[in-house]
Amino acid sequence: MSDTSLAQDYRKADWALVTGASDGIGRALATEAAKAGYNVILSGRRSDRLEAHAESLRRAHYVATVCITADLSDPDAAEALWTEAASQGRIAVLVNAAGLGRNGQFLDPDGWLRESESILVNVISATILMKRALAHMAAIGGGRILNVASAAGFMPGPNMAVYGATKAYLLSLSEAVAEEAAKDAVFVTALCPGATTTGFFTADSADKATLLTRLLPMATPESVAATGWAGLEKGRRVVVTGWMTKGFAFAPRVLPRRLTAWIAGQVFRRRW
Ligand SMILES: NC(=O)c1ccc[n+]([C@@H]2O[C@H](COP(=O)([O-])OP(=O)(O)OC[C@H]3O[C@@H](n4cnc5c(N)ncnc54)[C@H](OP(=O)(O)O)[C@@H]3O)[C@@H](O)[C@H]2O)c1
Repeated sequence: MSDTSLAQDYRKADWALVTGASDGIGRALATEAAKAGYNVILSGRRSDRLEAHAESLRRAHYVATVCITADLSDPDAAEALWTEAASQGRIAVLVNAAGLGRNGQFLDPDGWLRESESILVNVISATILMKRALAHMAAIGGGRILNVASAAGFMPGPNMAVYGATKAYLLSLSEAVAEEAAKDAVFVTALCPGATTTGFFTADSADKATLLTRLLPMATPESVAATGWAGLEKGRRVVVTGWMTKGFAFAPRVLPRRLTAWIAGQVFRRRW
């Protein structure tokens, strides 16, 4: 479903496509895109939230907005999202922020539904959108892609094993494609936040269940998005937000990998 109100007035401006724009970090990144003067295509499953945010962006920043609902656990929906988004005109920015995770033991059979959804959204659909965006941006003379990875992508993450693996994939893919795409003036940035106060943990009922969510300081989605957007504008390849997250990201460079896995497992273990 799309709302193209005002779009006709802004045909000359470039678009930013933001997935996960209905909530949390993606919602805040959609605001950053509008602040920077891009027309914004907001995507997510909850159309009411997309519409409300689109309306606030139009009023505050005088940009055009289009809302496209898509369930990215279906790879065909990612293809359809891209096709509908690209029909608006030049897409100069792609933000892959849609994502989810599961906190719990890999052995628990009840976890697979959410884990498989994480792989489909965080890995498969993000890759499809990135591939389509890269071809489009190379053809229009350049662009920027921001993939929201995670500090969890820097080391193995026991008790969030599949989630950590999806983010390690996204981080690796981003850095590799950044190298390939530089010749086409397409800049790829992996944004790696630490724990952030969004619906991420409540959606998994892991709110206040781990050391990560109960004891460690959490960032706001707005501060994460502002840092990520600044990194995107500077063409940074990896952006790690916050001093504690930077320590987490640095640890695997100096500690044995097995020890970092143990530390991450303690941080992610459900205790309450
Ligand atoms: N919060 C943290 O501590 C943290 C830390 C590091 C990285 N991250 C990453 O940041 C990104 C944004 O997460 P968040 O923290 O902002 O969580 P959030 O508030 O739960 O937002 C998640 C977003 O993803 C969308 N989404 C989830 N499943 C989807 C699906 N099947 N199809 C389409 N969209 C879907 C949601 O939209 P709908 O529900 O409307 O579909 C929502 O807009 C994720 O990639 C996450 O891995 C989060």
